[in-house]
Amino acid sequence: MSLLIRNGRIITAIDDYVADIFIQGETISAIGKNLSVKADKEIDAAGLLVMPGGIDPHVHLDMPFMGTFSSDNYETGTRAALYGGTTMVIDFILQKQGNSLRSALEEWKGRSDGNAVGDYSFHMAVTDFNENTKTEIKELIEKEGITSFKTFMAYKGALMIDDRQMIGLMEEVKKHGGLINVHATNGDMIDYLIGKHRSEGKLSPLYHYLSQPEVTEAEAAERFADMANYTGCPGYIVHLTCEGALNAVRNATRRNQKVFVETCIQYLILDASLYEMDFEGAKWVMSPPLREKKDQATLWAGINQGLVQVVATDHCPFKWEQKLMGKDDFSKIPNGHPAIENRMELLFSEGVSKGKITLNKYVEVASTNAAKIFGMFPKKGTIAVGSDADIVIFNPDEKHTLSASSHHMNVDYSGYEGWELTGKVKTVLLRGQVAIDDNKCLLEKGYGQFVKRNKVEGKI
Ligand code: URP
Ligand code: ZN
Ligand code: ZN
Repeated sequence: MSLLIRNGRIITAIDDYVADIFIQGETISAIGKNLSVKADKEIDAAGLLVMPGGIDPHVHLDMPFMGTFSSDNYETGTRAALYGGTTMVIDFILQKQGNSLRSALEEWKGRSDGNAVGDYSFHMAVTDFNENTKTEIKELIEKEGITSFKTFMAYKGALMIDDRQMIGLMEEVKKHGGLINVHATNGDMIDYLIGKHRSEGKLSPLYHYLSQPEVTEAEAAERFADMANYTGCPGYIVHLTCEGALNAVRNATRRNQKVFVETCIQYLILDASLYEMDFEGAKWVMSPPLREKKDQATLWAGINQGLVQVVATDHCPFKWEQKLMGKDDFSKIPNGHPAIENRMELLFSEGVSKGKITLNKYVEVASTNAAKIFGMFPKKGTIAVGSDADIVIFNPDEKHTLSASSHHMNVDYSGYEGWELTGKVKTVLLRGQVAIDDNKCLLEKGYGQFVKRNKVEGKI
């Protein structure tokens, strides 16, 4: 099957030009002006943007968490991602403490194999680093193509590891050419503050926010950066939200160390005033919580300064009845919010249309940098001869409104209900196949493939 995209304005992290793209099979085989080729299908993209498919490297699909499961599975989650222009996601496997990494991988494969519509990969979350798990790191990197290892400095008593385990894991991961991801907040402080608020009868969603002040994140970001510097292991801080934490990274980069930063779309455009709405604030109960307007300004600036390389979602949806588990106690509200479908359009509308970031920067933080940092570039994350034909055709001027009544995520509310956006996904290709066209998904579950990733050593 061949496909020709005519006359689109091609945007990559560095380019901006009008040309045709010829696709044969799953990859791009030629790019040029007025290509004289015959294709099975042609798409006229005149007046539209043609960009690499989005990569969201932080999602939680069908994940057991806080006594329930996130409500999007591999089918609904990756399909919703495609509707929003994201052609690939990276999900998190969670090791069970006391069990092997291998058994966690098998469990996740059991849920994902044959079920994804869009492409996906895994990070491995190490929640129990010991002599046994140490021996599994090399095999995951070299045989399974899982090159990034997630750590939690929070969720005490569940997922959190201590600094002793962190250092040991960093040494092992560095030895084999991988990368450490971190949820960097101070788990002990947060645990103390949650207990304090509960004992005082302060149980509404607002106290979720007040249990995780900025200092808990700034302190952990600095400690993580120091440990990464000491071990020489490349690090990636997930869902960074605030000025204090970004300043810790800014200082670390003065040492020329590799510490990458991801923020998420919600931290750029929503703020903590949403927690003042009684229990409705539960829609935005996530960790870390939403912050202040001054933090939004810092994060947009951080993107433009190159300190924040990735805008992800931390998509971890729970239906309203699941959120109600914490009706009488904020600490029982499943943490997370839905955004996998909305990220690309929200970032375009709030970032590009409002003049905060350029088109090239948009592609960089929504796709290219994740492909580079996580060992998939240039197969993914760009438009180039030989790359996978993962492509979004986008109308930068079309206006539309977000709503739970029209989204495709398996969740019965939207964190962005009624938001009016400028810029809409029109057509999405995944490995040369039309995935989304005219607001319909044309791919079946099972089309999505697991993407093995390369070592990052020497490449980032
Ligand atoms: O609230 C969140 N972020 N839920 C998902 C788990 C995590 O910490 O990333
Ligand atoms: Zn987290
Ligand atoms: Zn997460």
